Amino acid sequence: VEKTFLMIKPDAVQRNLIGEIVTRFERKGFKLVAAKLMTISEPLAKQHYAEHEGKPFFNNLVSFITSGPVFAMVWQGENIIESSRKMIGKTNPQEAEAGTIRGDHGIVTHRNIIHGSDSTESADREINLYFSKEEIQNYEKNVDYWLS
Ligand code: GTP
Ligand code: MG
Repeated sequence: VEKTFLMIKPDAVQRNLIGEIVTRFERKGFKLVAAKLMTISEPLAKQHYAEHEGKPFFNNLVSFITSGPVFAMVWQGENIIESSRKMIGKTNPQEAEAGTIRGDHGIVTHRNIIHGSDSTESADREINLYFSKEEIQNYEKNVDYWLS
């Protein structure tokens, strides 16, 4: 089954949105397989967002993402990478559709609530960046039958 890395950013942790966001993915039918509240170090932030190094917003992005605890998660489910990106909405919350996480809860691009991997390659890379193999659970739920 496909896995993705989702991370509730410092703004949403501060705004008490962890439960709201986790609930959306639970209700969708996706399965939580790893999670931790943690503070990202500067080197980890730079690795995570390496593709944006050199862009004008890079330094602000690194200081924002390291500014307080984040809630890092691994979720799994059929086609979860594409589906979760849809549920998250566009990068700029003002362009994100109502009904998406960013559309419903965010206002500005530099505090846009949540991160989600954008491809299978970035999901693999990001999961390994934040979690060890032992931290990722592999378990069955009876409800899986009703979701496939
Ligand atoms: P992530 O899930 O966080 O990776 O967001 P994304 O995939 O929707 O966007 P992208 O990877 O292109 O950019 C990463 C992050 O950099 C975004 O979530 C924004 O917080 C920030 N960012 C991207 N573009 C801009 C920009 O033009 N200005 C500012 N200030 N921040 C930006
Ligand atoms: Mg991205």
